Amino acid sequence: MQGKDASPRGFLPRFQHFATQAIHSGQEPEQWTSRALVPPISLATTFKQEAPGQHLGFDYSRSGNPTRNCLEKAVATLDGAKYSLAFASGLAATVTITHLLKAGDHIICMDDGYGGTNRYFMEVASEFGLKISLVDCSKIKLLEAAITPETKRPLALGADICMYSATKYMNGHSDVVMGLVSLNSESLHSKLRFLQNSLGAVPSPVDCYLCNRGLKTLQIRMEKHFENGMAVAQFLESNPLVEKVVYPGLPSHPQHELAKRQCTGCPGMVTFYIKGTLQHAETFFKNLKVFTLAESLGGFESLAELPAIMTHASVPKSNRDALGISDTLIRLSVGLEDKKDLLDDLDQALKAAHSPNASRG
Ligand SMILES: Cc1ncc(COP(=O)(O)O)c(C=O)c1O
Repeated sequence: MQGKDASPRGFLPRFQHFATQAIHSGQEPEQWTSRALVPPISLATTFKQEAPGQHLGFDYSRSGNPTRNCLEKAVATLDGAKYSLAFASGLAATVTITHLLKAGDHIICMDDGYGGTNRYFMEVASEFGLKISLVDCSKIKLLEAAITPETKRPLALGADICMYSATKYMNGHSDVVMGLVSLNSESLHSKLRFLQNSLGAVPSPVDCYLCNRGLKTLQIRMEKHFENGMAVAQFLESNPLVEKVVYPGLPSHPQHELAKRQCTGCPGMVTFYIKGTLQHAETFFKNLKVFTLAESLGGFESLAELPAIMTHASVPKSNRDALGISDTLIRLSVGLEDKKDLLDDLDQALKAAHSPNASRG
């Protein structure tokens, strides 16, 4: 956090040692008799024991796996945390953390979260007696008002648990679904280890290997995502066929100053309202050549999607309307392609969507 490296446009300085830690932490060749520089993919489901209960730290692969260990150690170091745990998906991490609670407990969740998280809380967890409030957490008074004696919340000095969908930037190559959790508390860690093993939502060793590999280039990928994301956001904001751009890296965003205080840059998630109707949005998607119409985000390739019909379809329409997730809201995940190719692609697709000759939809 105290690094002196240059930061883009007034954001926090880049974290010192981040790339070095991502490349080396948990990867020590001395842990393998072969001295392999790259962690082997340990596919064995079970491990030989010298005597009942006597082993070298691994007995059954759901409970612990050497390749998963390398990834978990690297992530803990990057987070400055004591512990990290890997799960079969971001949602599996959410579900496992939720199992720390019991019926009657209260969860406050931000109201514009991922549609799948919303669906899990509102349609699954609530069936088990958990109480859920969806709150606009950008308004501190609303957050305070939502807290009840049953609310289980982060301790005074910060969050207890940091949770990721590693499916996104951390793996970064759109070929792994995974969740990661970092934390410092020893007792919370043993509870989550117990739940990780008991619920069984663990990632495969191959996925752990891939995500561990993805971390090696996370720093340089993020720098390019910052650069391309900003270029796309600025291009769209100055485009007359665009109604409005939502990107915390732009001064027009209500939380721009907050983003600069909290982040080292603003990555590739750029949201905008296209002028016109759903038909204009559909024609825009049809004409994209470099961006691909697909869900997810954070991969090396650029994606475009319509949240109202795709990622946020599971959010009830009345909530979507209140949140501004309309039929003309388009979400981009700006990837690592050449900047000019991305801007040219958006330019031609916007023009095609608004061409008088366009067959819309
Ligand atoms: C903000 C956010 N949280 C959680 C998830 C769920 O992660 P996963 O798909 O790895 O289960 C996603 C997936 O898109 C997401 O965007």
